[in-house]
Parts: sequence; C-alpha cells; structure tokens
Amino acid sequence: MSKILVNVALPYANGPIHLGHVAGAYLNSDIFVRFLRMHGHEVMFVSGSDEHGTPATLAADRLHISPKEIADRYHREHLESFTKLDIIFDIYTRTTYPEHRETVAEFVLDFQKKGLLSEHTMVSPFCPTDNRFMPDRYIEGKCPNCGFEEARGDQCDNCGKLLDPQELIQPRCVLDGTTPEFRETKHMFFRLDLFQDRLIEWLEGKDFWRHSVLAFTRNFIKAGLRERPITRDIEWGVPVPLKGYEHKRIYVWFEALLGYISGARVLSERMGKKDYWKEFYFDRDVKMYHFMGKDNIIFHTIIWPAMLMGRGGYNLPYIVIANEFLTFNGKQFSKSRGIGYSVDDILKLASKDYVRYYMSSIMPESSDTDFNLDDFQSRVNGELIDKFGNYIHRLTSFIANNNLKISSSQTKPDETDREALEFARERINNYNSLLERVEIKKALGEWLELVKYANSYFNNAQPWRLVKSDIDQCVSKLYHSLLLAQYCTGMLYPFVPDASARIMETIGSGKYRTHGFTSDLLSQEGSEFSPVKGEPPFEKLSLIKENPNFADLRIGEILEAREHPNADKLYVLKVNLGSSEIQLVAGLRKHYMADELVGRKIVVIANLKPTKLRGEISQGMLLAADDGETVSLLSPLGENLKAGDPVRMGQYGFNNSGKIELEKLKTLELRMETAGDKVVATALLDGKREEILAGGSPVTSHRPVKEGAEIH
Ligand code: 2FM
Ligand code: ZN
Repeated sequence: MSKILVNVALPYANGPIHLGHVAGAYLNSDIFVRFLRMHGHEVMFVSGSDEHGTPATLAADRLHISPKEIADRYHREHLESFTKLDIIFDIYTRTTYPEHRETVAEFVLDFQKKGLLSEHTMVSPFCPTDNRFMPDRYIEGKCPNCGFEEARGDQCDNCGKLLDPQELIQPRCVLDGTTPEFRETKHMFFRLDLFQDRLIEWLEGKDFWRHSVLAFTRNFIKAGLRERPITRDIEWGVPVPLKGYEHKRIYVWFEALLGYISGARVLSERMGKKDYWKEFYFDRDVKMYHFMGKDNIIFHTIIWPAMLMGRGGYNLPYIVIANEFLTFNGKQFSKSRGIGYSVDDILKLASKDYVRYYMSSIMPESSDTDFNLDDFQSRVNGELIDKFGNYIHRLTSFIANNNLKISSSQTKPDETDREALEFARERINNYNSLLERVEIKKALGEWLELVKYANSYFNNAQPWRLVKSDIDQCVSKLYHSLLLAQYCTGMLYPFVPDASARIMETIGSGKYRTHGFTSDLLSQEGSEFSPVKGEPPFEKLSLIKENPNFADLRIGEILEAREHPNADKLYVLKVNLGSSEIQLVAGLRKHYMADELVGRKIVVIANLKPTKLRGEISQGMLLAADDGETVSLLSPLGENLKAGDPVRMGQYGFNNSGKIELEKLKTLELRMETAGDKVVATALLDGKREEILAGGSPVTSHRPVKEGAEIH
C-alpha cells in the first residue's frame, strides 16, 4: 500500500464541461483512482478551476460581465457536472483562493532569490482601438508553422506549437479586428533555459510513458529551451509580488500549475491535517500522476518539472498521461462552436452509468476517437445490458425462484470449474496490470471477455437440468457462477461505480458486505452469497425513437450504373450498403449521366420488399429532391461517413428488422427546407419536421434546389 498523488489538469472555468473533457482526462483519472483505492492505496485526487487567463476574460467580454462572475458560475457548474457523472475529486480547488496566491508568491520570490528570474523588455501587441496591451490569446492570425488561419497568439490549436503573437502572419485583435501595434513593455522571465540538461536527464528514466508524450517532449527540448515570460499586462490574474509589477499579473499557466500544490494545501487544511500535503510532495516514495488532454503536454513535461526542480525538494511527476482528442463527426469537441454534447446534454439522454461505460469503451488513448450515438446505444445494449446485466439477472432469479441456498462448503470444483477459475484469474491479472498502466479501454476489454465466459459457463452448466437431477452439483455450479459474477462486478466498479454497487447487493457477496469495493472481491478464496431476486439491473438504452413508417434509411454508395434494357428513363444501379450490395432501379436517366453516379454517396431506403420494374429487380429506393426544375440526389456530407451507416430523422431511426411494403411509406412526407443558410432534407414525423441526419449532420442535395422541393 502506498501513497499516490493524482493531479488532473484544472479546466478553464469559461464554458460547460463537455464529453471531450471527460474523455480527455477526468473519467480515466477517476477510474484509475477508484482502482487504486480498491487495492488499498492512499490516494490524493486533485483538480479544480483554472479561473484566470484570457479564456475567462474572453468569455466575460463576450457576455459583458466580469471574469469573476464567469469563473464563479462555471466553477459551480463544473463541479456539478463532474459529481453527476460520479467523478469525485478529494478537492476541486480554485485559483482565486488566497492559499493559491500565497503558494504562487512563495515560488516567485524563491525563484527571484535564486536567480531563476530575469527581466526583459519585450514587445507586446497593443490594440490602438482598445488603448491597451492585448493578451496573446486576443490576437489571432496565420500559424507560421502549419499555415492554420485561426492560430492564437499563444498556441496553434492545429499543430500545437507554442507561439508569440509577433510570429503570427497577419495578426488581428479578436475583439475588433484591428491590426495590433507592437509596443515595448517590461516583463519577468523564468529561466527555463537553465533546466535543459536536467530535464533531458530526468526524461531518460521515462521510457514507460506513452510514446507520443515522450517523443513530443524530447523534440521540444531538442529545439532548445528559452526563457519564458511569466507576467502579463492584464488586470485579471494572480498579483506579482515584485516591485514595479503592481499593475501586472502572473501568466495564467505559470500559476495554474501551482494549483495542484495549493489545492493539496487547501484540502489538508480542510481535513485538519495542515501538513498532510507535504507527505505527497516531499516523500520520495510517493508517485505523482498527471492527467490531461494532449494540448497540455509541454506545460506538464517541461515547465512544471522545471518549476519543481527550481524550487527544490519537491517530487517530480512520475508519469504524464495525455489522451488524444474525442471527436464528433471527425471534429474536435467544442461547446463554443456547437460541436458535440456537454455533460448536461448527454445526461438528458442517458444515465451516468451508460455514459461512463461508453466513454470508457472509446477512451481516446492512442488515437483520436469519434463519439457516435448509434455506437453508444449498441455497445450499452449489447455489452453492458445483454451480456452482463442479463447474466446477473438470469443467475440471481434462477437461485431465488428455486429457493436455493448457496454455500461454499457444499461445493466441489470439477475440471470445468477449475478451468473457469483459472480463466478468471488470467483476466483479473491482465486487468490489474492494464489499469496500473492506465490502459482503460483494454482493461474494460478483459472485463468483457470474462462476462462472455461467465455466460457460456452458466449455459453449459445447465443448472435448470441439474436442479432436478443432482442438487449438489447444481449448487456447486451456481456457486461458481456467483463467483464469476462477483469478479465481473468488482472489475466493473471503477468504470461504472453506481450500478456495480447495486449489482453487488443483488448477488449478495459476503465479501462486499464486509469490505465494500476492495481487491478482496477479485481474490479467489471463497465467498458466501445470499443473492436477492430483483428487477433486471439495467433498462435498455433507447437514444433513437422508432420511426412510425419503419423505414430503414442508410447511406449507400453507387458502385455501378447501367441503362435499363427495357426502359429509357431508368438506370439499374448496384449499391454498396456496407455489409451487403443491393440492386436499385431509378428513374434518373434524364438528370444524370451514368458516370456522374458511380462513386456517389446517396441516401437509400434499404428495407423495401423487392419488386420487379420492367423485368429488373429493385431492392430499395434512393432519395432525390425535385423542385420542378432541378432534380438532385440527396448527398450526405462528411468524410467519416461509410456506406451502410444509418441515416436518422431527428431522433427517429430504425431499431427494427424486416422488410416493408411501399405502401408503408405513404405517410412519410419528405421535403427540402431552409435551415440556417442551407436547404436541407426534412421529414414530417408525429406532426413535427425533423432534419434528416447522417452522422449527426443535416443531409443536403449536391445540386442546389429550392426550398419546398419534394423528395422522392
Ligand atoms: O487546458 C486547460 O484547460 C488548462 N486550464 C489546463 C491547466 S492545467 C494546470 F495548469 F492546472
Ligand atoms: Zn500551426
């Protein structure tokens, strides 16, 4: 058992927490902490609000309120969002706390005494319209490194390069578009250059880090470390405890990192153990884990350790874990740009257990990963509910319905049981070592393997036959089934804590009753069980409502187009639907050349009963808009869309199976409507117009058609 410090990047308190944040750092760290605690470690789990900096002032400027109001509001909301998802920190600190200012002042004064600060005159962007120096983030322009047009003055969001606003090509002030002047002003710099060799040496022992993090850091250092300004000409921020700097503030990153320490101090005070935090920062045996999204790497692998080295005596990070991005239809999540779901939005559609399960299963650990509602629904229903929930329910109801008492003393493991225990042992060992390395997705994969195994163990044992023929054998099989259920539930706990607790009650494991969620639940010595009969542990997730016409709309890709031998208006098309190919007959000869069709992505009703049209079979229908002058195929946009992907009408989709008659479609009224600056395809369902969506984005026609155009 050891002490472990887990620090998670302090999110800017400037907008809602969205699923991109959750997948980036907060859910994986919470899972890791729950896992550590199960194994008896003493963990300190710290995060909080990064309240200063231009993200907060930009949001405040837009809403014409003070940065303090913005920070207060989002600090409260973030804490609520995390709590609703069972992401529970020991402290969710604030960088406006007095303890934070004190910590920052201590570091700055100590650095000054040690000659780690130097003063330079620098040239900063000054906006003549606003008559003040502008923070780097208020200046945008073209990235000198990758050419991205909307690079910010401090960092390019596209290539990640840290920038000076002066390096931007064609800089402009984001508030009014003015071209900034660059004026002289004095600032304090941190001598990062002095740490180059020590950082290289420190990184030598870090080959267990993810390759991407290590490589990025090493390349950055190789380019040569320079002094970095740590003060700014702004009003909102931590004061600078130096003469002549009364009107300046500390640069947000330089102080936010110290939020880990000040947060730990605040927590210790609240616990009534004032010096508790010191055990985590000064005791050499304590490992310090850092979690963040990949855009935060350099700050945590270079600047933060250099600050700690400079101060001296402090532990350095043991590991820096940076996830890749979660995307929504291929784009980075961003609430301000309206991409993806906030935590509050998604919790209106699905419970926290389901959100945690799905997010764990798509955790972007080694590459960017796309969030997808259909995938969400099918994984939760197919894995968590059908495989796991049903297993628990079948097992516990069987025992209850037959009034059986299951006692370990009655069991004699046979060969199959020993094999089952051995299989479980392997899965649990892998799971433990994966989670020790914070490999969330793979660890969940081990859980799923064991769940599948448990299902087949139970099915093969056929307790419904044994109960009549050999009651001892029956009880023994049920005992081992319960043991597997206990392992599965214990393994699931860090991912889905709330449901796991409920399920442990249902299986009535004696170990759980005495110890709560400890690693005991995963150990092989006997356990006693008193299962209770209850409802199935989960309700099916239904993110998608069934459309009343039972039309299965999908993306198709035209593979071949040939002229119909017996009809001069018709083509015979071969269409790829992902898992199958179908033939369609379509009246497009007046509107399209055959080679304009091949390769095109279209929207198809894929479950029509096949009919013959002038001797050629047609197994579906494609959708095209017609305004009387122009006829255009509907064309789903988006590079990530694949043939076979479902197309939805608002929240309506097709959850069913089976073919429908053309007759069924009679009431489905489809029409092009204006939405924003586009004309998009819509359907009338339950009296409401719903947009037709492919991968979450509205479907349009590739040739412009007028609003009101009919779709057939
Ligand atoms: O990227 C962000 O949201 C930053 N606020 C992270 C800061 S991490 C640390 F400094 F606290
Ligand atoms: Zn760039």
